[in-house]
Amino acid sequence: MSSKIEELKKLYEQALLGGGKEAIDAQHSRGKLTARERVELLVDSESFLELDIFVRHRTTEFGMDKRWVWGDAVVTGLARIGGRRAVVIAQDFTFMGGSLGEMHAAKIVKAMQTAISQGIPIVFLNDSGGARIQEGVDSLRGYGDIFYMNVMASGIVPQIAAIMGPCAGGAVYSPALMDFVVMVKKTSFMFITGPRVVRAAIGEVVDEQQLGGPEVHAAKSGQADFIVEDDKEAIAVIKKLLSYLPSNNMEDPPVVRTGDLPDRDIPELDGVVPEDPNAAYDMYKIVDSVLDVGSFLEVKTQWARNAITGFGRLDGRSVCIIANQPNYLAGVLDIDSSDKIAEHVRFCDAFNIPIVTFVDVPGYMPGTKQEHGGIIRHGAKVLYAYSEATVPKLTIIVRKAYGGAYIAMGSKHLGADFVAAWPTAEIAVMGPEGAAEIIWRRELEAVKDPQERAKLLAKFTEEYRSKFANPYVAASRGYVDSVIQPRNTRRVLTKALEILSTKREVRIWVPPKKHGLTPI
Ligand code: HXC
Repeated sequence: MSSKIEELKKLYEQALLGGGKEAIDAQHSRGKLTARERVELLVDSESFLELDIFVRHRTTEFGMDKRWVWGDAVVTGLARIGGRRAVVIAQDFTFMGGSLGEMHAAKIVKAMQTAISQGIPIVFLNDSGGARIQEGVDSLRGYGDIFYMNVMASGIVPQIAAIMGPCAGGAVYSPALMDFVVMVKKTSFMFITGPRVVRAAIGEVVDEQQLGGPEVHAAKSGQADFIVEDDKEAIAVIKKLLSYLPSNNMEDPPVVRTGDLPDRDIPELDGVVPEDPNAAYDMYKIVDSVLDVGSFLEVKTQWARNAITGFGRLDGRSVCIIANQPNYLAGVLDIDSSDKIAEHVRFCDAFNIPIVTFVDVPGYMPGTKQEHGGIIRHGAKVLYAYSEATVPKLTIIVRKAYGGAYIAMGSKHLGADFVAAWPTAEIAVMGPEGAAEIIWRRELEAVKDPQERAKLLAKFTEEYRSKFANPYVAASRGYVDSVIQPRNTRRVLTKALEILSTKREVRIWVPPKKHGLTPI
């Protein structure tokens, strides 16, 4: 008996070494932690229940019968993260570059199945050279199985991917199918085809980081939700993100009391909107001061900066934040910001997180670039996402809310439960200057002197502004539930949120359908 136990201990020792000491040193010299070190940092102490540590690949081709490790280059298991259960998957680059073969994939799929059946989040730490070349089509099948599970898990349990090394070729589609992607600076990249193929195919010379490094995905493609300095920070972000989320779509998000007073007045908000209606200001000031102190976690900080998306807490309750940013492109809705907003609304709706929207939007972005790029289709996603969402929807109209963009940004007409406007709100079909030029075109054309004409336009603009560009017309119809002093915004929102916390799914009756067809 004791010899068997000794043997088992030895096997564990071997397994824990992954690809061996040399490969571990090489991993460290690249500035990366090993799969096991990452898991240890991520999970609560002693909580990890590893699965399939003795799985091995079964390929004999290309001398693979002599080349194997216990666990087949991926660590999988169940654990607690911040007290909550989760499934953890960590690819081990120290054996064959963490490449994915049949059994490596089977372990991942099994872990994902467990997450779905248990209703617990999936955290997938990617660090892999992609499909294990020696295992050929079995590797491809493995990817197919993982993608399928990603789709099955979608909307049931939160899925978070961290890219902590290479992630290339079709492998990128697992993180792409997940809800959030964290990328580590310098050591990670994601692309469909690497620099060598790019050069051969189209003659473009580019390196890995320029092609698919974290900075590129954070600012240009919008693929990365968070970029971080190193592995440790990646783990910290994952833990923080999870703290806002429920474990599955049947649960409410956790309540984390911060001690911040729910009815705290914020006097400085009374002066945040500039006198000049066309002057920019920083929406972060409003978002940060209304939420529980220090609770704002922004998602996609660098991409489509005319929209702000993230999570926060109001009196401890998780909320989803959507806002226009007047400081960047005047907060206009364009292709990218529409995608950013629609995606976040859909995630929050799927996971029962109430949506709080701060509106200051001059409209949809004009011009051929946007029209030809499909602003109609992309803009429609925002309408679809808000209309479809059944979680409590609370909207604060801070300043501009014009035209189709007014409707899109969490308006009453798309099912908002509570809409409040600041006295600075301008809710109208279009901005006063443009509207005055259309309504009083004849009168303006009759005046030939340009200076006189400008004066007249200013007068008409003012007339339009006082008649239409205010919150009271909308309030008189009940499209706005309340016009509030900015300083009371937090108090009003926490109260409304509390009342709406028992909201049940309410929709107008529609015949049963398989699923709607969201514009994509
Ligand atoms: C088998 C692989 C491998 C792979 C890396 N290795 N990728 N083995 N299959 N896909 C092995 C290497 O041979 C090496 O083995 C060890 O992992 C470490 O790799 P290095 O090259 O020494 O490390 P590094 O210099 O850091 O470069 C890492 C790398 C590079 C960028 C990932 O190895 C690379 O370009 N690999 C090929 C990537 C690729 O083309 N994958 C297929 C993508 S297509 P030794 O024995 O020296 O330790 C794909 C299709 C999926 O994934 C389709 C899904 C639908």
